[in-house]
Amino acid sequence: MRTVRLPGLERPVGAIGFGCASLGSRISAAQGLDALADAHAAGVNWFDVAPAYGAGDAEAILGRFARGKRDGIYICTKVGLAPPQRNALLKQVYSMARPIVGTLTGLRRAFRRMPSTRNVSLPLTPQLITDSLHSSLQRLGTDHVDVFALHKPAHGDIGRDDIQRALQGLRQAGKVRLIGVAGDLEAAQIALANRDTYTMVQLADDPSAQPLQQLPPAGGPCYAVVTHSILGVGGTRERVLHALRMAGPAAMSEMIRLGYSPKPEQAVAELLLDRALAANANGVVLMSMFGARHRSENLRRVQGTPKPEALQWVSRLLAPVSESRE
Ligand SMILES: NC(=O)c1ccc[n+]([C@@H]2O[C@H](COP(=O)([O-])OP(=O)(O)OC[C@H]3O[C@@H](n4cnc5c(N)ncnc54)[C@H](OP(=O)(O)O)[C@@H]3O)[C@@H](O)[C@H]2O)c1
Repeated sequence: MRTVRLPGLERPVGAIGFGCASLGSRISAAQGLDALADAHAAGVNWFDVAPAYGAGDAEAILGRFARGKRDGIYICTKVGLAPPQRNALLKQVYSMARPIVGTLTGLRRAFRRMPSTRNVSLPLTPQLITDSLHSSLQRLGTDHVDVFALHKPAHGDIGRDDIQRALQGLRQAGKVRLIGVAGDLEAAQIALANRDTYTMVQLADDPSAQPLQQLPPAGGPCYAVVTHSILGVGGTRERVLHALRMAGPAAMSEMIRLGYSPKPEQAVAELLLDRALAANANGVVLMSMFGARHRSENLRRVQGTPKPEALQWVSRLLAPVSESRE
């Protein structure tokens, strides 16, 4: 697997990281542990988690996986979101509904839209930050995390002195290697204006918005970029698929010639992953890949060097019709 060097971390990091948002909710502990082990054997060493993930169970499951291999993996966890309030009931629903919710995308989307499945935003205070990290460390069964990030923080909280001091204190105590912000583009920009504290940003890399182009250049004190949502949010993937179909058989033949799947849906996912790997060539791209087929496809694509041409392909497919005809 291609690896990258992130500022502040000694060992190389696999360019694709495992996103654990569904670990313990949509995905059972047993299925999740198998998937994590399989990905790790293939070279994945970055695992992204949060107290709220997996209806509150993801950190503990990841901790079971990490036992005995802590020095060989990187863990990023966060603070600021708690699992949904009616969590016990939700866990029961998850365990009963897993077989159906896991396979039907529409049902999953409807499930996620239900207010009772939403994570709860917590008001950030120095005490909350310290307590949350200690609880995370206990669940993860470790004495430190490699990255500790504010999770979807209010923009005004990122630069607050008391918040930054609390985070820096945890870093000085050796409990945290890097401090980051996992939020939207504006949150990332604010974080990177405070680089004495924050040296990692995690954000959605929706191909139609190209947010990485709006981050400051990584000169001077460098920072690490971790991206997610690379298959697109709000129907981007469907738009790319539609555009590919509208472009006619020649476009699909060209994709096949370049090594993409002959199935358009799969080809689009592969193309979007190539685009994300090229857009964030020096950072980590997070993917949920509990499904064996997804995992092997994604791990295959991260073997070679990034393909900048995928950026142009996706831009062309997403361009308004008049522009793409010019
Ligand atoms: N900081 C934040 O606010 C934030 C927000 C969102 C996400 N994240 C992090 O990023 C991770 C990834 O989240 P995401 O939203 O970007 O999800 P994603 O990786 O785009 O995954 C979404 C769905 O796509 C499937 N998938 C994976 N590879 C595929 C492929 N090659 N072809 C077709 N489908 C594929 C996954 O299935 P399977 O898993 O079933 O294989 C999953 O059901 C999360 O787990 C979390 O760690 C962070």
